[in-house]
Amino acid sequence: MIKILVIHGPNLNLLGKREPGIYGKVTIEGINKKLNAIAKKKKITLEIFQSNHEGEIVDKIGKAKDKHEALLINPAAYTHTSVAIRDAILATNIPTVEVHLSNIYAREDFRHNSLIASVAKGQISGFGVDSYLYGLDAAINLARKSISLT
Ligand code: DQA
Repeated sequence: MIKILVIHGPNLNLLGKREPGIYGKVTIEGINKKLNAIAKKKKITLEIFQSNHEGEIVDKIGKAKDKHEALLINPAAYTHTSVAIRDAILATNIPTVEVHLSNIYAREDFRHNSLIASVAKGQISGFGVDSYLYGLDAAINLARKSISLT
């Protein structure tokens, strides 16, 4: 069975209360519920992890290669700063989809640069909770391909 690791980065635990004008009213539980519903329908397994700590996210990615066929990640603020998360993705070589609720290119200049984008297979940004749903679809396709190649 395909297993996909989903990582929510810092402050995403506060969704629902956090800047609703930008991120909407959706909560992390609401996002996870939708992801799990798709996973059930498509008969795949998700491991969902949220952390506000860069090192914990690095550790999780480091252990992912043997356990998961793809990574769906919203690195949140670490998108713009974390060489360590970028390097963890490179080190494990896990097929990765980067997602953002907001359109990072329509916001402050410092959000226009993603350190993750060039080591991910692709990025989906700006569709609210649907970014995760499109992202999961992409991650499932990547996982299927990686299995058929092995
Ligand atoms: C975000 C965009 C980031 O710039 C920001 O730091 C976040 C959330 C998004 O999903 O739109 O925390 O990743």
